[in-house]
Amino acid sequence: MTSEVVDNDKRRFLTQTATVIGAVGAGLAAIPFVSSMRPSARAEALGAPVEVDVSKLEPGQLVRVLWRGKPVWVLRRPEEVLTALPRLDDKLLDPASNSSEQPDSSRNRHRSIKPEVFVALGVCTHLGCSPLYRPEVAPADLGSDWQGGFFCPCHGSRFDLAGRVYKGVPAPSNLEIPPYRYVSDARIVIGEGDKG
Ligand code: FES
Repeated sequence: MTSEVVDNDKRRFLTQTATVIGAVGAGLAAIPFVSSMRPSARAEALGAPVEVDVSKLEPGQLVRVLWRGKPVWVLRRPEEVLTALPRLDDKLLDPASNSSEQPDSSRNRHRSIKPEVFVALGVCTHLGCSPLYRPEVAPADLGSDWQGGFFCPCHGSRFDLAGRVYKGVPAPSNLEIPPYRYVSDARIVIGEGDKG
């Protein structure tokens, strides 16, 4: 498994996040591998499934893994985030994710199999940069109506914490959800499961 803790909901990690996540490919070279779980290079090239332990993720914590050469985020969403999701609907382009690519198992309001664990491709649906994880509410640089989400630094697209795109930004659709499934309460496998 290729894994890195990106940050959690504390401001002190935001600088770290901003430096770690960049355009797809560019920022990924710096991610250390967890050697005992790293799939072979050949398996990686073929798009081997990636297993992730979600049991130790703290609320608000996001880790990033590589699957098929792309960043995949795994985020444990706090209860207050889940409660707030419906309140954003009128600001979003496709709040019910009717036109977005996602597995059937994630075709629901929270866009995930289990509400608290969010899994998404960390690739902006505009031109492919990797958005920043910005969980804080109303930071000075994003404005007083920012409720936490993902911000793409390339052209300013905004997504909520379910990967749903806001209206009026360049990205045309919600973030993609990859196929994944639970092999136990603690572990998911990205790259397996229904594709929708
Ligand atoms: S690539 Fe994200 S806004 Fe353009």
